[in-house]
Amino acid sequence: MLAVEIREFGSPEGLALIDRTAPAPAAGQVLIATEAIGVGGVDAVIRRGTLAAYGFAKGHIPGSEVAGTVIAVGEDVENSWIGQRVWAFTGLGGGYAEQAIAPVDEIVPLPAGLSAVDGVALGSSGVVAHFGLSHARFAPGESVLVRGAAGSIGIMTVQLAARGGAGAVAVTTSSVERGERLRALGATHVLDRSGDGGAYAPTGYDVVIDVVAGPDLPSFLDKLNPNGRMVVVGVVGGQPPADFGTTMMAAFRKSTSFATFSADTVAAPDRHAVRAGQFAAASRGELHTVVHEVLPLEQAVSAHYKMDAGEVFGRIVLTP
Ligand SMILES: NC(=O)c1ccc[n+]([C@@H]2O[C@H](COP(=O)([O-])OP(=O)(O)OC[C@H]3O[C@@H](n4cnc5c(N)ncnc54)[C@H](OP(=O)(O)O)[C@@H]3O)[C@@H](O)[C@H]2O)c1
Repeated sequence: MLAVEIREFGSPEGLALIDRTAPAPAAGQVLIATEAIGVGGVDAVIRRGTLAAYGFAKGHIPGSEVAGTVIAVGEDVENSWIGQRVWAFTGLGGGYAEQAIAPVDEIVPLPAGLSAVDGVALGSSGVVAHFGLSHARFAPGESVLVRGAAGSIGIMTVQLAARGGAGAVAVTTSSVERGERLRALGATHVLDRSGDGGAYAPTGYDVVIDVVAGPDLPSFLDKLNPNGRMVVVGVVGGQPPADFGTTMMAAFRKSTSFATFSADTVAAPDRHAVRAGQFAAASRGELHTVVHEVLPLEQAVSAHYKMDAGEVFGRIVLTP
């Protein structure tokens, strides 16, 4: 099978197309003939070599999210999976390939009305958006700020907050054009990356969902209303300053809360139930997937250059 491996850590040029023997599914696993492969931010982080300390070695195949058809199953897995179209979480790698292994506990059937491409644009990010909002105890009528809204997690968070009856859905983004696209998905106010939204933006928020973190995080803690909650779901801007907690302590009398959220802490059946519901909603046109570009697997290098350049709105998807 064709696959893409990390031959050298660093620039996208370190990604190489290879011909490798297809893996065989072990107990508890399925083998999927991929139709669509999601390109995620974590793939670029691994490729840069930042996570080498976690054991990622040369030859690693990136990619954690695929959709396609089950073509083989491990010995204790029901044969009825064979032939089914599924979305799958492959773990921290193995996805950039014509055939990918996934644990049977991490696959969800794709409804007939949803393409594989749309499945990988929604499968992981929709779940993070849903549980990120519930972790923040978001309630109808509340004002929400989505920081880093132009990525796949932010795009889903904007839609779910709007559909959930938010009083306002503000977003941070880097261009007017992106802001307009986010408005079409449910944003009511567009802020620049610093959080400046002009005279008409809300002065405070009940909920901040933050995909960015980084050095500016404390200034967004300052935007919380009394009893407001900030939940960090991503770190695309890097780690926040070590003393960011002093900002909260200085506003002690506002009773604000700070939390991180990882979907890893949600039980698989709960993730699957939400994902299946979102797949159904997307196939009915009630949730919109945003695919920046579909590229052939052979162009993984180009996909990573586009991600590194910050030009991606939504998700890039590779097809074998
Ligand atoms: N919590 C979980 O369970 C979970 C699961 C999977 C992934 N993740 C995490 O989620 C993140 C990726 O999410 P994603 O794919 O939605 O994000 P993304 O597309 O990589 O980035 C989202 C947006 O943030 C803005 N941005 C980028 N760098 C920035 C910076 N330095 N300062 C301010 N804004 C910046 C960009 O929009 P503009 O240019 O328009 O500002 C970008 O489109 C990663 O950190 C990943 O580890 C979390």
